[in-house]
Amino acid sequence: FSVEYHDSIPSTNARARDLAAEGESDTVVLADEQTGGRGRLDRDWHSPSGGIWLSVLFRPDVPMAHAPVFTLAAAVAVTRAAREAGVEAGIKWPNDVLVRHGDEERKLVGILTEMEGEADRVSWVVVGIGVNANVDPADLPDEANPTSLSTERGEPLDRRLFTQRLLEEFDALRQDTGRVVEAWREYATTLGKRVRVETPGGPIEGEAVDIQFPGALVIETASGTEVVSAGDCEHLR
Ligand code: BTN
Repeated sequence: FSVEYHDSIPSTNARARDLAAEGESDTVVLADEQTGGRGRLDRDWHSPSGGIWLSVLFRPDVPMAHAPVFTLAAAVAVTRAAREAGVEAGIKWPNDVLVRHGDEERKLVGILTEMEGEADRVSWVVVGIGVNANVDPADLPDEANPTSLSTERGEPLDRRLFTQRLLEEFDALRQDTGRVVEAWREYATTLGKRVRVETPGGPIEGEAVDIQFPGALVIETASGTEVVSAGDCEHLR
């Protein structure tokens, strides 16, 4: 990857999309601060100085239907980097990286993937990763129930090293997507739990038993097995 660094930028994802439109690939856009960070479901993503806000642009030669695997790969890569930094992070399906505090799960990382395809093949993917690194969770909105690496560690983190590890892991996984689901299972906090997933077709409740390539959740419900490829997931116990 070539890395483009900004002290401050509206959104690394927006910048990476612009680079995609210019024909670029294999580029990481990295910023210390974002002034217009975007989250899933069109939410704002607060991105104060001290975080790791980055977007990876690349052009995998895969069908559009396989693209969700890259979001899972990012969750795995960042979880591994967090664990190496001494923070016991886990993954809530599909891609929330969380740290458990008693009964509560606090959000450490957000991932937003955007892409474009042509004739059912991916033409580019932008995987946006927002890591609450050296930031004070008190400066982040409460709804997300946020935490940060520096809070969990009790000391600040070397962001450069963390970013390097994260990108190394992500690079390896994106080139070997067959390994992603297995790695994801290793860190999953969702499997074995009762969940409620808000899907476009309505809520589905049951026990989360597995995930399937490229990222669908398998749920045992009262009326049978459901395979859910997208939705907002809540852990019920
Ligand atoms: C979420 O809603 O959980 C996803 C948040 C994704 C935030 C990252 S920070 C880097 C990149 N640039 C953005 O504007 N968003 C993503």
